[in-house]
Amino acid sequence: MKLLFIGDIVGQPGRRAVAELLPKLRQQHTLDFVIANGENSAGGSGITPKTAGEIFSAGVDAITSGDHLWDQKEVMELLQNEKRFLRPLNYPPGTPGQGSAIFRCSVEPVARKTGEMPPVAVLNVQGRTFMPPLENPFLLALDEVKRLREQTKIIFVDFHAEATSEKIAFARMLDGQVSAVVGTHTHVQTADEQIFPGGTAYLSDAGFTGPHESVLGREIEPVLKRFLTNMPQRFEVAKNRVLLNGAVIDIDDATGKAVKIQRISESFA
Ligand SMILES: [Fe+2]
Ligand SMILES: [Fe+2]
Repeated sequence: MKLLFIGDIVGQPGRRAVAELLPKLRQQHTLDFVIANGENSAGGSGITPKTAGEIFSAGVDAITSGDHLWDQKEVMELLQNEKRFLRPLNYPPGTPGQGSAIFRCSVEPVARKTGEMPPVAVLNVQGRTFMPPLENPFLLALDEVKRLREQTKIIFVDFHAEATSEKIAFARMLDGQVSAVVGTHTHVQTADEQIFPGGTAYLSDAGFTGPHESVLGREIEPVLKRFLTNMPQRFEVAKNRVLLNGAVIDIDDATGKAVKIQRISESFA
């Protein structure tokens, strides 16, 4: 099966790029399933039922998140009611929402030559290096993957983390046990896509989907001013050179191992 992962969708420009480009990408890559990180989809900070609804309507099957989870209070509704929305697994016990889910079909079914789509598990985990402290992502992911593997071998992991060392170590730990580990959070796409010896596809960071004439999706001037003066600034979402960044992963249905990983960076406006 073929799966597309879309890196952090930033604001309205990011949401528009997904809506406009995804139908074409679905066809071009004969995608079976689409996952997107939506933590910056509401004005660059957080996610709401409205922005999540737009992303799902564009043809995304599952939305992951990260440290910007709590930026919009309406996220509570998503955490409580939306089964296709994931938050990092390693929040303390009792936190609303879920860190993983198993999907049995795609919102936009495609004619598959290989028959019915196998169940796809999606897992969202957050790193701890240069990030707010959460429960140990390594220990929790090991247990969760063991549990998910009882239901499917096709497991995609969005590891939302800052440090490449933490990302690589985490993915190496899961090599052979999950189909892919793709990093998010830095908003900078890395060029280290590879398949580890055990069959796990890996990319340190998918990059972000939104305006790249920017600092990580925000207007350049206020960010620069903050670095120059240390005074708080309003960071508006930038506008120009919108890219959809992510990766397409080809997975063997029978073994759950990755066959190919290809980075994508599609220009929209
Ligand atoms: Fe983040
Ligand atoms: Fe982000």
